Amino acid sequence: MNYCFASLIRSSLAALAVGGLSLSLSTTSLADGHGSSADGRTVLITGANRGLGLEFARQYAADGWTVIGTARRPADAEGLSALDVEVLQLDVADRESIAAFAASLDGRSIDLLINNAGIFPRVSEIENVDANDYLQTLMVNTLGPVLVTQAVMPNLREGELKQVVNITSGLASIEGNSGGYYGYRESKAALNMFTSSLAAELGPDGFTCLALHPGWVRTDMGGANATLSPEESVSSMRAVLGELTAEDNGRYLGYDGTEVAW
Ligand SMILES: NC(=O)c1ccc[n+]([C@@H]2O[C@H](COP(=O)([O-])OP(=O)(O)OC[C@H]3O[C@@H](n4cnc5c(N)ncnc54)[C@H](OP(=O)(O)O)[C@@H]3O)[C@@H](O)[C@H]2O)c1
Repeated sequence: MNYCFASLIRSSLAALAVGGLSLSLSTTSLADGHGSSADGRTVLITGANRGLGLEFARQYAADGWTVIGTARRPADAEGLSALDVEVLQLDVADRESIAAFAASLDGRSIDLLINNAGIFPRVSEIENVDANDYLQTLMVNTLGPVLVTQAVMPNLREGELKQVVNITSGLASIEGNSGGYYGYRESKAALNMFTSSLAAELGPDGFTCLALHPGWVRTDMGGANATLSPEESVSSMRAVLGELTAEDNGRYLGYDGTEVAW
């Protein structure tokens, strides 16, 4: 896969289009699985009411995808509701919510699941680890994606792309570990292992499962000093997703497509 080459073609086409030349080629014709509305593709994004999830929803909707964006409190999800997307209730730490959500999707095909919802308790010292907070972090960041994926497997099997993307973190890397962030690191490292196991199981069925690190992004979680805007991070991640092939199944990648050390 050559992300740079594909981006180059895309920018060249865009430049030609901007230059006033009429092009019959669409982005879809670039063998990009994440192409335009003509594909009729459906993406399901958890935690889509703010941050990266909202930006994923905005960009996929703008590209003509059918977007199902979930929120714990849909009534409060004004930014998401203002988009051309379906807003459904889902608390990934609540099994009843997951079951009701999955039931409402009965029979619908989903091409791409983005397990994005997450929490980040900042616990730097072992003395400050709190059992309840730690368990909640595992519930939301690890078990949540496992149970959501399980619940929508029938929908994913009906989808054409068969892609499961787990939004992980660079903080999950054991090789790159500098300590701290108890609970968060472990929850995302476990999410990575889930991604790897899922990839091994579902690869033969045509699935591509990916652990994707968004970079350090200016969201409520990332804070104002982060290096990337949500637009930059999500555009870059979407470019990576647009180039996925079967060979990428089970990989742990950064937002720019580079490999992250496990
Ligand atoms: N921002 C970064 O620098 C960064 C870096 C590495 C990885 N990440 C990962 O990227 C993902 C998105 O992060 P973000 O920066 O966009 O964070 P964010 O701005 O804090 O947004 C988190 C989202 O997750 C949702 N959420 C939290 N608990 C949930 C639950 N139990 N059920 C359903 N949804 C829940 C939130 O919904 P509510 O509004 O209801 O709370 C919100 O929509 C996370 O998985 C995070 O770990 C972010």
